[in-house]
Amino acid sequence: MYKVAAIGGDGIGPEIVDAGKGVLDAAGEKYGFDIDWTDFDIGADRYLATGDLLTEDDLKELSAFKSIYFGSIGDDRVKPGILEKGILLGLRFHFDQYINLRPVRMLAGTQTPLAGKGPEDIDFLVVRENTEDFYVGIGSRFKGKEHRDLEVIRDIYSIKFGLDVESDSEEIAYQIGVISREGSSRVMKYAFDVAMNREKKVSSVDKANVLTDVYGLWRDVFTETAACYPDVATEFTFVDAITMWFVKNPEWFDVVVAPNMFGDIITDLGAMIQGGLGLAPGGNINPEGTSLFEPIHGSAPKYKGMNQANPIATIWAGSLLLDDLGEPEAAAGVLTAIEKSIAAKQTTVDLGGSLGTREAGAWIADAVRNE
Ligand code: IPM
Ligand code: MN
Repeated sequence: MYKVAAIGGDGIGPEIVDAGKGVLDAAGEKYGFDIDWTDFDIGADRYLATGDLLTEDDLKELSAFKSIYFGSIGDDRVKPGILEKGILLGLRFHFDQYINLRPVRMLAGTQTPLAGKGPEDIDFLVVRENTEDFYVGIGSRFKGKEHRDLEVIRDIYSIKFGLDVESDSEEIAYQIGVISREGSSRVMKYAFDVAMNREKKVSSVDKANVLTDVYGLWRDVFTETAACYPDVATEFTFVDAITMWFVKNPEWFDVVVAPNMFGDIITDLGAMIQGGLGLAPGGNINPEGTSLFEPIHGSAPKYKGMNQANPIATIWAGSLLLDDLGEPEAAAGVLTAIEKSIAAKQTTVDLGGSLGTREAGAWIADAVRNE
């Protein structure tokens, strides 16, 4: 029996998580385990009613689970950033989910916008660092003299760039990116370990030609980590260049390890080349703690409650969850069932089918049972 927490969240989140739960339950029936679900009411509605994003109680209760199955957050009634930072980033940071695993894999029967490329070309893993970089939340925004941090900032801006930060009209903001040896080394080790079971190639992403301090450290740690894996081929790529290579030569990549923000950016591109955001899953993993599995798309509030959203990214995220629980056969079974549904056009409208979210999920659940 596995105890799994479920957070539907906002917009289409609850519908896609329901569809995913049905598939994971079917996988349990087929592969011989039970899942005991506990639903958490976390998201915009509760925030608007009580002002709570994540409470101490939420975090305490969630810490009893190894896995959280997560839909999406974001709601038109709440200013952008509040729910994202307060809930999703809050969970990633609280549970120190330092690995953000994002497969970029084109499934048979889907469409890529890349001319001449197919499923054999588009199959790699992005391992995104998930707790550092520009996401640490250290920054400030202020006008001229008003701000008490002015002296600190004068060093950075006035001296370095010659800006007149004392003039009242000057408006300045800064945000600090943090890379640590420990933080990079643990996620890089994970990337190399994964690569050992794949094609043994790891590409590092950075912008060490400009942001020399933070990504200089990132590169040093990458070089040191690589030395422990002599069988793995490695390369450094700059983030701007890798966006080009993803489009031109996706077949070059096996495992790509990236700092947090670049990892965020390149995985939207990855989702697009694999067939669209509706198909891209992600796992936020702490191998020793509580991990969270989610589609990488947002909450699409426009489609809330309409039974139209494609549940595949969430169901695939469920497959990553099963893998993480140590059920690789069930995980593979779920992915096969997803591919069958695409081949049979038993999908939502975006993939050429005519099913609703619930029906598409139920079809995949049946396919898992009948494997
Ligand atoms: C993602 C999202 C999040 C991120 C946002 C919603 C905080 O874009 O999961 O990729 O930036 O990590
Ligand atoms: Mn993103």
